[in-house]
Amino acid sequence: MIPYESVYFYLGALFRPKRILEIGTNVGRSLIMTVLGANPTNVELVVSVDNESYLPNSQSIARQSLIDFGFKGELLFLVGDSKDPEIRSVLHQYTFDFIHIDGDHTTEGCLRDLELCWPLLTNDGYIIVHDSGDDMRVKDAVNSFIDEFDCAHITLSDKILRHGGIILQRNGVT
Ligand SMILES: C[S@@+](CC[C@H](N)C(=O)[O-])C[C@H]1O[C@@H](n2cnc3c(N)ncnc32)[C@H](O)[C@@H]1O
Repeated sequence: MIPYESVYFYLGALFRPKRILEIGTNVGRSLIMTVLGANPTNVELVVSVDNESYLPNSQSIARQSLIDFGFKGELLFLVGDSKDPEIRSVLHQYTFDFIHIDGDHTTEGCLRDLELCWPLLTNDGYIIVHDSGDDMRVKDAVNSFIDEFDCAHITLSDKILRHGGIILQRNGVT
């Protein structure tokens, strides 16, 4: 089994994002690997949202690790629920070319994160949703979102990314 973090390194190296958002960062494993793959000196902005329901202080840990790994761009670490209107209004001040959704795994929560993130995505950007392989709630959210927005998508099986995932991109619908 490929360590799941290394897949994010690969995605960072492949897509070369400059403006990254992660919802559900925890201590930053996927986020740090994405930034390292993209090359920290080429990334301009990292925004992270986590309500720290898994681990108190995890946002500070992730933030410090990014700095320790050489990231020198703009950092914004928001502690709170991605459904919180204040967090949402802050996010609406930005656009991103790489968005990783790995926070609330309920169908409604994941769908709301997708609906939040879609308008924040640049035309050539990518949304990655983790756990859409074996978590039926996430899978249902992603499938209904794809049906509604006609997104181009590539499924990452759980042989490639542990618990599976999906990459979404615009397909004419903005
Ligand atoms: C599966 S973990 C993320 C793992 C992380 N991406 C990594 O690679 O280490 C899910 C994270 O989402 C956060 N979370 C859960 N529900 C959330 C919500 N509604 N809003 C923001 N963060 C949430 C949890 O605190 C937890 O840190």
